[in-house]
Amino acid sequence: MTREEQLRGEFNRWAQAGRGEEMERHHLPIVLPMLELMDLQSDDNVLDIGCGSGWLSRLIAERVREGRLVGIDVSDEMVRRARKKCVEHGQVMFVLGSVDEIPWDNSFFTKAISVESAYYWPQPAQGVREIFRVLREGGSAWVLINYYRDNPHCHQWGEILSVPAHLLSAEEWAAMFREAGFVEVAHRRIADPTPTPEVYAGRWFRDAEQLRAFRAEGALLVHGTKPVGVHPQIHFPRIL
Ligand SMILES: C[S@@+](CC[C@H](N)C(=O)[O-])C[C@H]1O[C@@H](n2cnc3c(N)ncnc32)[C@H](O)[C@@H]1O
Repeated sequence: MTREEQLRGEFNRWAQAGRGEEMERHHLPIVLPMLELMDLQSDDNVLDIGCGSGWLSRLIAERVREGRLVGIDVSDEMVRRARKKCVEHGQVMFVLGSVDEIPWDNSFFTKAISVESAYYWPQPAQGVREIFRVLREGGSAWVLINYYRDNPHCHQWGEILSVPAHLLSAEEWAAMFREAGFVEVAHRRIADPTPTPEVYAGRWFRDAEQLRAFRAEGALLVHGTKPVGVHPQIHFPRIL
């Protein structure tokens, strides 16, 4: 089984269990501050990578009235659910595909966003290069993740997840952005202000205290801009 098939199987199961919709509640508190930083314009063309059930794409579509919104996901069940909920948004489209090979032309999007997906990508550096390719010059990429090395309160997830996940540091992510060609690369934390219950009985954290510490450390946001004026080498034939 390829890594892509493995991811598809796992996230199809998540979708069938209703977790696609559930993630909106979990991720919204860290996503809203990121949307403010992104400075979305009404004519932006936005790519949402690992869009899941599509809630974020729909939310962005409300702010990007004249642009296009494309959500891609490796799970066909997530894409099917996202499409079902989106009939009212004419400018939104959901596509099955992996970040390794984004099914889109070069230089189309002005913004690319990805929430809680990048550590699953089989080859994160290839994913970041693909995002660079489909962005227009001056466009920006925004990757938000809760599983990263600098937050010690998430390391246990690696043992719980049924698919491999990359535990990389903020600096390693930023280096990948720079190597792909991005400039103005930066990273920051976004703390989750959700109140923590007194008792935690789930399996992702040891106890409520660890969940509180995890939220206080915050999610990692890495972003960068595709520079203007970088053109692929074009060789014109000599006219004789
Ligand atoms: C934890 S969910 C997050 C979904 C959504 N962004 C949200 O916040 O609700 C991760 C998503 O990333 C998708 N994903 C994982 N690997 C991917 C890849 N290589 N290419 C595209 N999508 C991928 C999964 O199918 C899943 O829908």
